[in-house]
Amino acid sequence: MTSTLDQPAPMRFSAAPSLSGAVTVPGDKSISHRSLMLSALAVGESRVEGLLEGEDVLATAAAMRAMGAQIIRDDDGIWHIHGVGVGGLLQPETALDMGNSGTSTRLLMGLLASHDLTATFTGDASLSKRPMARVTQPLALMGASFTSSPGDRLPLTMRGACPAVPLDYRLPVASAQVKSAILLAGLNTSGITRVVEPIPTRDHSERMLKGFGANLSVEVEADGTRIITLMGEAELKPQQIVVPGDPSSAAFPMVAALIVPGSRITIANVGLNATRAGLVDLLREMGGDIVIENPREVGGEPVGDLVITASALHGVEPDPARAPSMIDEYPVAFIAAALAQGRSIFRGLEELRVKESDRIATMATGLRAIGVTVEELEDGLIIEGSGGQPLAGGGPIATKLDHRIAMSFAIAGLVSRDGVEIDDMRPVETSFPGFVPLLKTLGALS
Ligand code: S3P
Repeated sequence: MTSTLDQPAPMRFSAAPSLSGAVTVPGDKSISHRSLMLSALAVGESRVEGLLEGEDVLATAAAMRAMGAQIIRDDDGIWHIHGVGVGGLLQPETALDMGNSGTSTRLLMGLLASHDLTATFTGDASLSKRPMARVTQPLALMGASFTSSPGDRLPLTMRGACPAVPLDYRLPVASAQVKSAILLAGLNTSGITRVVEPIPTRDHSERMLKGFGANLSVEVEADGTRIITLMGEAELKPQQIVVPGDPSSAAFPMVAALIVPGSRITIANVGLNATRAGLVDLLREMGGDIVIENPREVGGEPVGDLVITASALHGVEPDPARAPSMIDEYPVAFIAAALAQGRSIFRGLEELRVKESDRIATMATGLRAIGVTVEELEDGLIIEGSGGQPLAGGGPIATKLDHRIAMSFAIAGLVSRDGVEIDDMRPVETSFPGFVPLLKTLGALS
């Protein structure tokens, strides 16, 4: 995928007056990917409302189309997907361009691993640096074969196995992408595919697979280990899906409202699945005033409206076991810590080094550039907070094709003396179209 603009789009974010108003954020990225993939495997028409129309999800849509699904967006923004049935995906004629999207890549590898086809996956410079062995290794045990670039990276060509062999796999890394890849491969594999998850990760795949009628069960052991069992081959029935607002996108206005003095905002319709809501808990522990109103269930996922009031935050030392529930929110949590009173110690976060950028190094460099005292550890960061005093500001921040780095430092700019310059805002389109207009609606930008 190529971004709409060929040239970097730098932008400066400056000290903001208090934020106010009510907004919604775009649909959940994880749920959007999965809704397209499972709809494409159901026989008949599924309907998806609130789909995230960001570049990552559009890469998934393009790939599913290239393999035979019919996917149409109507004028009301509803997506209609005519699936081909489990096992019915067609050989793509050209390479599948995954753009910046690790989730598209890893989940699709799983989905295709039990199909009789060959697919080549390509991606942008960021995605081409990310490790793929975590999915190719278990999928190879199911019978798929891979020719990858050095270091198990993209471009990579996969030959699916049909019939594939069911797998019983204990996750060596806490990753919802790996879990989901194996479960998706299990759909077209006869027998029992089992994934043992010692540390729980986001469970959207399990919820949605059940919703589509797959024979899947989850058992939780006394120590919290989850055992997910899927009986293949599955038959999926078309569904009507409503995608909640993405908590990982809500994280940015949430932190902005806490750190810009005098702010009070509402973010309506935010997904609050416990496997995703770790940042809300962390910010509350830091002293953040976040109230959840109208808790409800939408499309099998817990949802609520968040009312956030500016608060004096204090430093924290979160338990690394909670990392998966807020794995994508650390960059903006580091910004909250930079404005808190006292020291915050974040450890056990080695997974951040293999995200869209090395988020430990990218954040450490950026935080230093805007005047924050920070120590980089192999597995985390130690951040000295300003106690609510504006950060010095500066930049340009090198975002390294990482949307969440760009948005995190944009939020930091709202509480800075000299403003914060972001080198390139284009990556934001991967997950949060409308980020800058949303900040304008809240009164953060003139
Ligand atoms: C995702 C899982 C997480 C997360 C990513 C989306 C998913 O990755 O960081 O943005 O939708 O399954 P890992 O599985 O690598 O933890």
